[in-house]
Amino acid sequence: MKKLVLALSLALQAAAWAQAEPSPVSPAGVPVKDYPWQALPGETNEAMERKGDRKRGERLYALCRSCHLASAGGSPDGAIPRLAGQHSSVLIKQMADIRSGARHNPAMYPFAAVLADPQDLADLAAHLEGLCLQAEHGRYDAADAEQQVAVGRALYDQACRTCHGPNGEGVRHKGYPVLAGQHHRYLLRQMTEIRDGRRPNAHREMIAVSGSHNDDQLLAIAAYQSSLLPPGKVCEAKAPNRKR
Ligand code: HEC
Ligand code: HEC
Repeated sequence: MKKLVLALSLALQAAAWAQAEPSPVSPAGVPVKDYPWQALPGETNEAMERKGDRKRGERLYALCRSCHLASAGGSPDGAIPRLAGQHSSVLIKQMADIRSGARHNPAMYPFAAVLADPQDLADLAAHLEGLCLQAEHGRYDAADAEQQVAVGRALYDQACRTCHGPNGEGVRHKGYPVLAGQHHRYLLRQMTEIRDGRRPNAHREMIAVSGSHNDDQLLAIAAYQSSLLPPGKVCEAKAPNRKR
C-alpha cells in the first residue's frame, strides 16, 4: 500500500513538473508555437518566431504616429493606449488580432491591414518594446485618488497580481501585458470590455476574474494600476525615448 502511495505521488509530481516546463523560446524571446494559454493563428506564431529589427520597426512606426504619437505614449484621456515598453509578445498578438478582426478596432484596422507580413509585426514590436515609459501619463488624480488606489491595490493583489505582476510588469513569455504606466481611462475601458464580452480575444481566466468585479471596483483597480511604474523602464528626465 505504501509503495502504491509513493508511486502515485511521484507520478503526480512528474506531471506537475511537466506542466511547469517553460515553453520553447524564439530568438525574439517570445514563445514558439502556441501560447501556454491560447492556440495562436499561423501569422501570429510566425511573427513571434522572427527576430525583430528595431531600426526597420522605427521606420514602419511612421504609419502609427498620428494616433499613438512619436513617443508611443498614447493619450492620457484613454482613447489611445500607450505602446512604449509593452512586451513584444503582447504587441504582436494585439496587432495580429486587430487585423484578423479577433479584436474589434475599426479606427486602426486600415493601418494594421497594410502591414505586409509577419516580419513587419516583429519589427514594430521590437521597436516599441525598446521604448521607455513616460512617467507622466493619465493617472487617476481625482480628489479621492488615495482611497481609490488603496481599495484597488487590495483587489488587484487578490485577483490580478499572479498574472500581471506585483508592479504591473506582466510576463513577457506568457503574453501577459504590462499595465503599469498605462492611462487609467484606457485600462478601465479595456477591463470593462473584457468583462462584458466585447474583447473576446482576451485570456479566458482574465475574462472570468473580471466578471466578479463591478464598475466601482474596476475603477479602483484602474486607479491603482495606473499608479504603478516598473523600475528600470521609466524614461530619465529629458533622456531620449530609449531604455538604454
Ligand atoms: C487611427 C488611429 C490609430 C492608428 C493610425 C494606429 N492605431 Fe493602434 N490603436 C488605436 C486605438 C484607438 C487602439 C485601442 C482600441 C481599443 O480601445 O480597444 C489601438 C490599439 C493598439 C494596440 C493594442 C494595445 C494594447 O495595449 O492592447 C496595438 C499593439 C497598436 N494599437 C499598435 C499600432 C501600430 C503598430 C500601428 C501602426 C501600424 C497603429 N497601432 C496605428 C488607434 C490607432
Ligand atoms: C490568468 C492570467 C490573468 C489574470 C488572473 C488577469 N489577467 Fe488581465 N490579462 C491577461 C492576458 C493574457 C491579457 C491579454 C489578453 C489578450 O491577448 O487580449 C490581459 C489583459 C488585460 C488588460 C488589457 C491590457 C491592454 O493593454 O489592453 C487589462 C487592463 C487587464 N488585463 C487587467 C486585469 C485585471 C484588473 C485583473 C484582475 C481583476 C486581471 N487582468 C487578471 C491575463 C490575466
